Amino acid sequence: MNRREFLTHSAAICSAGWLANCLPAPAGEDIPELKITPLTIPLPIEREFTALHISDTHLVYADQRDSERQRTHALERLEVFGGRPLEMLQASLRYAEEKGELLLHTGDMIDYVTAKNLDLTREAFAGRDCFASAGNHDFYPTQGDGPREDEEYKAIAYDKVQAVFPNNLRFSSRVIGGVNFVVFDDVFYYVADDLVDRFKAEAAKGLPIVAMCHCPLYTRELFEYCAGSNRDGVAYIVGASDEEMAHYPKWCFQWGYNEQRTTPATGAFLDYLREEKALKAILCGHLHFPWQGRFSETATQYIAGGNFSGQANEIRFVPAA
Ligand SMILES: [Fe+2]
Ligand SMILES: [Fe+2]
Repeated sequence: MNRREFLTHSAAICSAGWLANCLPAPAGEDIPELKITPLTIPLPIEREFTALHISDTHLVYADQRDSERQRTHALERLEVFGGRPLEMLQASLRYAEEKGELLLHTGDMIDYVTAKNLDLTREAFAGRDCFASAGNHDFYPTQGDGPREDEEYKAIAYDKVQAVFPNNLRFSSRVIGGVNFVVFDDVFYYVADDLVDRFKAEAAKGLPIVAMCHCPLYTRELFEYCAGSNRDGVAYIVGASDEEMAHYPKWCFQWGYNEQRTTPATGAFLDYLREEKALKAILCGHLHFPWQGRFSETATQYIAGGNFSGQANEIRFVPAA
């Protein structure tokens, strides 16, 4: 069986509903090895705890409840993501479970909305100690239509998607081990108008904040790294200036992609965040490779690579000396 036939066969199995009850995978199956990046984040907390931070799983499955177009598209996208995003997710879930780790997912759990992908997402999060932010792909009703990436577009599938996630995707906070994890929505390169006020209310709680979003936040270092290493010169991060984006190709600004331009609310939020001393870390994804760099005087930004290829950040939150 060649690779194409194998992928077709695999997706056909998915279409038959075989995967409906396969999270987590039973012991002894062929579970792929993860590429773990170990990280340590010192915080003013009393006891150490560990989290597995994964992102960008890009589940790409469809079954008889989905349209023929969605099923066909699933086959193509499965190949784009290496053929085994579900197996990589299963391996990650198992790893976190066996080590008793908190699971953090920072978006693009699914590649585009299908009944099958929503089921798999529900099963992945259900009954698990986890916290999650959304990604741009989580709201694509059908990949390949030319996403508009605005609030109207997000609303098409929002309720269905929100229903299978463990927490509110627009804004959530949860205190774990003395750390205030704060989720916010930046999936289409902009944030909500009231985010500064909501974030200030979290900072007033007096706990160290670990923020979770999807698209990385601008620093000059990250912009140069991304724009320099991507063939199209696009950085795919939040908060770059118009001047810095002047060389972006035209396609970035069609289909509503103009949201890569920094809105006034987004600029104000980033200005505030750079000065917010309660902020200690930002966890995100979207770029499909792991990276870390200083964001502000008090905070470092940690990007998890693509979980579809088995990448994961294992983070030890330790008491600061
Ligand atoms: Fe992604
Ligand atoms: Fe993304």
